[in-house]
Amino acid sequence: MRTISLGRSNFQVPVVAVGCMRINSLNQSQAEKLVQTALELGANFFDHADIYGGGACEEIFASAIHMNPAVREKIILQSKCGIRQGMFDFSKVHILNAVDGSLKRLQTDYLDVLLLHRPDALIEPEEVAEAFTQLETSGKVKYFGVSNQKPMQIDLLKKYVKQPLLANQLQLSITNATMITNGFNVNMENAPSIDHDGSILDYCRLHDITIQPWSPFQHGFFEGVFLGNSKFPKLNAKIDEVALKYGVSNTTIALAWILRHPAKMQPITGTMNLERLKDCCQAAQITLTRDEWYEILLSAGNALP
Ligand SMILES: NC(=O)c1ccc[n+]([C@@H]2O[C@H](COP(=O)([O-])OP(=O)(O)OC[C@H]3O[C@@H](n4cnc5c(N)ncnc54)[C@H](OP(=O)(O)O)[C@@H]3O)[C@@H](O)[C@H]2O)c1
Repeated sequence: MRTISLGRSNFQVPVVAVGCMRINSLNQSQAEKLVQTALELGANFFDHADIYGGGACEEIFASAIHMNPAVREKIILQSKCGIRQGMFDFSKVHILNAVDGSLKRLQTDYLDVLLLHRPDALIEPEEVAEAFTQLETSGKVKYFGVSNQKPMQIDLLKKYVKQPLLANQLQLSITNATMITNGFNVNMENAPSIDHDGSILDYCRLHDITIQPWSPFQHGFFEGVFLGNSKFPKLNAKIDEVALKYGVSNTTIALAWILRHPAKMQPITGTMNLERLKDCCQAAQITLTRDEWYEILLSAGNALP
């Protein structure tokens, strides 16, 4: 598996990460096969959150991988915190408690990466800074980042937090590409010119923050997979044509499209299917041409000005 540096650190991570949000749909032996397959593919970066499955996903993962110190050394664990029932919570006490909960469920004494899951309207960045420093000093968390955050929110955090913020996990797929299309609809009166994210793509590139695209195969907000979906005939025809050329699956091409972007992103896959996981990892070996990349973008209904 090809690796990249996470943000501006020297920490090497596989370019395709394995999301564990859906692992609670598997039984023990299926979950064991999934994590084993991922490891065989070199996909040893696992993305979690304290809320996935109400905590069950972290537990199922630890049991499936038969967590012990030797296993722990071979994998990279990222988890997220800050979402609670009915609210977001970046208070120091919540962050510290959430990490302790994740460590217990994951049967480990440290996380490689902790992300703040979704911006808290009542954030007090001084509290986040205290929590991060305590987590770093105690050895419970090595690296830090955010998720679903805009540039100004990251800047606000950076004013107080000492640790570099290495990653920003954001929704991105061929059909949810406003962070990309907004960039070439400048000073226009059309809908794509509306800036929904504060130019987060350019901001992350400028500040060496790795974008981790989540839901790389979904359209809308968890409305379903666009591949093989009759709502997207042109897109699927184009992806299938490119897939045929490379002799790979449509899944591989859809992920290769994200990986072709020069921002050096680290997509988080969500499949629990072993063949599709292999197809996702194969995307790391494919570099689409500029023509193919633009043709796929436009076939999804995105237009050039
Ligand atoms: N930071 C955030 O706010 C946030 C939000 C959501 C998710 N995430 C993270 O991102 C990860 C991925 O999210 P996701 O699960 O929504 O992503 P996804 O990879 O876009 O979707 C995976 C789902 O699509 C299905 N699928 C059907 N056909 C597929 C195909 N050809 N290729 C790939 N998948 C296909 C999968 O089913 P099969 O299992 O049958 O393949 C699975 O149910 C999560 O596990 C989580 O770690 C983060």
